[in-house]
Amino acid sequence: MAYFLLKRLAKEHQLVREDWEELLTSPSSELMHDAQELAVQLREPIYGKNIFIRGLIEISNICHNDCYYCGIRRSNPNVSRFRLSADELMTCCENGHKFGFRTFVLQGGEDDFYTDDFLCPLLQKIHNNFPDCAITLSLGERSSASYRRLFDAGANRYLLRHETATAEHYAQLHPSWMSYTNRMLWLSDLKTLGYQVGAGFMVGSPGQTVAHLAADLCFLQNFRPAMIGIGPFISQQDTPFANEKNGSAEQTLYLLSLIRIMHPHVLLPATTALNTLLSNGSQRGMQAGANVVMPNLSPASCREKYALYDHKACTGIESIEGLELLKKQMAEIGYKVVIDRGDYQ
Ligand code: 5AD
Repeated sequence: MAYFLLKRLAKEHQLVREDWEELLTSPSSELMHDAQELAVQLREPIYGKNIFIRGLIEISNICHNDCYYCGIRRSNPNVSRFRLSADELMTCCENGHKFGFRTFVLQGGEDDFYTDDFLCPLLQKIHNNFPDCAITLSLGERSSASYRRLFDAGANRYLLRHETATAEHYAQLHPSWMSYTNRMLWLSDLKTLGYQVGAGFMVGSPGQTVAHLAADLCFLQNFRPAMIGIGPFISQQDTPFANEKNGSAEQTLYLLSLIRIMHPHVLLPATTALNTLLSNGSQRGMQAGANVVMPNLSPASCREKYALYDHKACTGIESIEGLELLKKQMAEIGYKVVIDRGDYQ
């Protein structure tokens, strides 16, 4: 029965909620295997064996927000806080460009230091110095006016995970002032402004049920973001979720496959969180349907401080220093890291 649902998904690229729930409830290893095969088959005519790399620059671990799952939440006193200057940021881009990166992802906490007046000239400079590169921002919730200014200054893409598409679950993960409705509005807003938008969620976040995951997939199949970021939840010792169980790498891989079958064109990273739980996470991720990796270009001294969760992988193939190893690992399984902006096709 579940197998027929997979076949239907491969044909119609959407399912009703009950069917998603059925696919997500205790999948057999055969079903997960079938999902991988279909995912790889559907990706082939669009992206072939190409893997896109994105240079991740963690610009600041200062955050005025307080998400219960996140290690850099403002209530965590045990974080050594940093913020990159415009010059440091440009150096990361220069370095990344030399290594073949054609997308820079500026990611950070919701740090009030990075005003539009600070960011816009910087984006223009990146755009002028590296005209062959795409600029992705991942700076959390701002305002419509700000999103517009940043877009006009040269940003092309915006990553803002929806985290969960169920309002009650959203409230279990976030402080009272954050709102599920607003989050969804920001996502539509970003799309309307012309960004290629990324949404996504953590697999196995505290309180998550099969019904929540089915709601996430229903949201994603309607919204059709250009990018979908998912990774296992991993507890961080100084957060309210310190004692919660980590998400499962196997379930993450299965969800990567389902997402690829649902949305064959999507840009889908094998995330650092997956690599943190699985030493060959990038390889397994690609074999499950992913086609993007985001190695870290940040100054090495900052990477450990940007600890959203414990034991974050940040030295091996997760970093610019590990790029050769990443290429080798991808080649081993028949894939090729390409020098390309890797736009949504
Ligand atoms: N485990 C896994 N992922 C996390 N994120 C934040 N904290 C954690 C954690 N403890 C994810 C969130 C956020 C993205 C930047 O990182 O989904 O959107």
